[in-house]
Amino acid sequence: MDLGAYRWGMNPPPLTTLDLPDQLGRTWLITGATSGIGEELALAVAAAGGTVVAPARNRERAASLVAAAGKGAGRLETPHMDLADLASVRRFADSLTTDIDVLINNAGVVSPRRRETADGFEMLLGTNFLGPFALTNLVAHRVRERIVITGSDSYKVGRVDLDDPHFRARRWNPMSAYAQSKLCDMLWARALQERLGSRALVTLAHPGWAATGIQNVTGSKLLDRAIVVVTSPFSQSAADGARPLAEAALGDLAPLSYVGPDGFMKWKGRPEVQSVSPRGTSATSAEEVWALGVRETGTDLA
Ligand SMILES: NC(=O)c1ccc[n+]([C@@H]2O[C@H](COP(=O)([O-])OP(=O)(O)OC[C@H]3O[C@@H](n4cnc5c(N)ncnc54)[C@H](OP(=O)(O)O)[C@@H]3O)[C@@H](O)[C@H]2O)c1
Repeated sequence: MDLGAYRWGMNPPPLTTLDLPDQLGRTWLITGATSGIGEELALAVAAAGGTVVAPARNRERAASLVAAAGKGAGRLETPHMDLADLASVRRFADSLTTDIDVLINNAGVVSPRRRETADGFEMLLGTNFLGPFALTNLVAHRVRERIVITGSDSYKVGRVDLDDPHFRARRWNPMSAYAQSKLCDMLWARALQERLGSRALVTLAHPGWAATGIQNVTGSKLLDRAIVVVTSPFSQSAADGARPLAEAALGDLAPLSYVGPDGFMKWKGRPEVQSVSPRGTSATSAEEVWALGVRETGTDLA
């Protein structure tokens, strides 16, 4: 175990290095690669010789990612895309000229207060589900192999309110909004696989409890740091959190396999395939969530 980069309360030490098999000649589209588990995965793919298209909303963080990849074996590019802005998602999709072997829908947010996207969507639903839904529909014809959707076990307490998905009438709180967005992700995967058939495999992953930027949710840096310190015994590093994504992307898996860490409460550990409760597999709910995505984004799959 290499403790070199470990600072107490900042990021638990990785149990293992994220070493991927040779990715030379293969192209990955990874969202949310400027931080956390997406960054770890993107760097691992580039180090394994793959080409990484990592659309990013923040120029500085994009530059840091490119610098971190250095002059490794693969190529890494960071075109602009903000998932909280459908026009930006469309511009990125229109600009894409390469085929994609693996699409990793990973970007996600939590917020301490209710906010809206450029299109007036509740921010968590817009960023964690509607933006990725639109992106995937717009680039699906370019995906040759697999689409991974990053879910979360919080789907287990999620409820999709089809009458008020944006919390305009009901009371907003971060947990309800996050759990709704992640339940949408779980159900969307099912409806997506239904439509793609044998054209591409759809899998799901969750990182357990990974020490990443998404833990900075309170709006107070001090409180965020305190939470990270107190919870660090239960969480794992971003690199270990990325391992379920890597397995979901490369493992020999059945359609809609859900990969997460195998340890206590599924918070940390080595990747394993986990069951999804009926809430996350309902065919009726999946079709309702697909219809919600189509209605809100104006995108669909042929
Ligand atoms: N960490 C956990 O314990 C945990 C548990 C369950 C599920 N997850 C899921 O894992 C995924 C990755 O999260 P993380 O933990 O690695 O968090 P993170 O460190 O905060 O990374 C989130 C990534 O998403 C990007 N992003 C956010 N909003 C975006 C937008 N509007 N447009 C484009 N990119 C956007 C961020 O970009 P910026 O750098 O510009 O902010 C960042 O690269 C998320 O889907 C999250 O819900 C995480």
